Amino acid sequence: MATTAAAMAATSVVVLDRGNNTTCTINMHGATVVSWRVNNQEQLFVSKLASFDGKKAIRGGIPFVFPQFGAWSFGPQHGFARITRWHLERAPDRLHNGDVEAMFSLMDNEFTRSIWNYQFRITYRLILREKELHFHIGVYNPSKELSFTFNMLLHTYLKVPDVRRCQITGLQGCHFIDKTRENALYQEGREVVTVNEWTDRIYQHTPQEHVITNVVSGRKMRLHKYNFPDTVIWNPWIDRSREMSDFGDDEFPNMLCVEAGNVTSPVILLPGTAFEASQILQIIIEGNVSRKTKRNR
Ligand code: BG6
Repeated sequence: MATTAAAMAATSVVVLDRGNNTTCTINMHGATVVSWRVNNQEQLFVSKLASFDGKKAIRGGIPFVFPQFGAWSFGPQHGFARITRWHLERAPDRLHNGDVEAMFSLMDNEFTRSIWNYQFRITYRLILREKELHFHIGVYNPSKELSFTFNMLLHTYLKVPDVRRCQITGLQGCHFIDKTRENALYQEGREVVTVNEWTDRIYQHTPQEHVITNVVSGRKMRLHKYNFPDTVIWNPWIDRSREMSDFGDDEFPNMLCVEAGNVTSPVILLPGTAFEASQILQIIIEGNVSRKTKRNR
């Protein structure tokens, strides 16, 4: 890992390599995590039709949604962070425990100010552990006078053998906006949520943890989040898949988006203040339900 940040940033991807075929690849376009392999097994879905032209958002992996979730009168859907080239703040570095860390950043520039005229700075720190990927986000408002409000969300596309067999825990009792039913508000009655049709729901005030069953190799994935009060569940199913030029018609059974974010109540950031949020994705190895994850950074 002698490569300098400048040399790495000149290419379009940065790779964190923890050994044992465990890697995480980040495309500088949007600081999009485009691959997370654990012992050579890919955990994230990226469409075979995804575009890497540096213009469109990458269809898959983990696009970074900021400062808008959804359609926006000022600019592109889901904001500009996922279609802007980020800066490599710290090249991948091995920590004393063998984990590998890198940090990316995004600041306002001419392009972002032409859409959204605020100063901001985001830091995005990723840590690759043996069976986990950690995301730590900081948003800072350097202005002396202006506050701003924003949405933020990690648009995680999990790779799954068959979405119909996945179950998502932690949503029972939560209210959700159903985007497939004209944004009507409902309350989830099910202990576990399953996906058997076009699904596009913003669950509100969700707990810090969800477990998703039947991901790659029939395993379970834990999604742990901090300061992300909402969880979006999305799968385009058959008809919507056909409407997307960068998504194969037959790919919908192999992905499930479980997206932790601040969506329904935008964050207000006063001048000179900062906001922090984080997420951990953890593969659950049955028999190992260790919870040291959070403390062992
Ligand atoms: C989800 C939204 O987060 O992202 C959906 O809830 C949207 O409504 C989906 O269709 C994909 O968005 P995009 O802009 O990447 O096609």
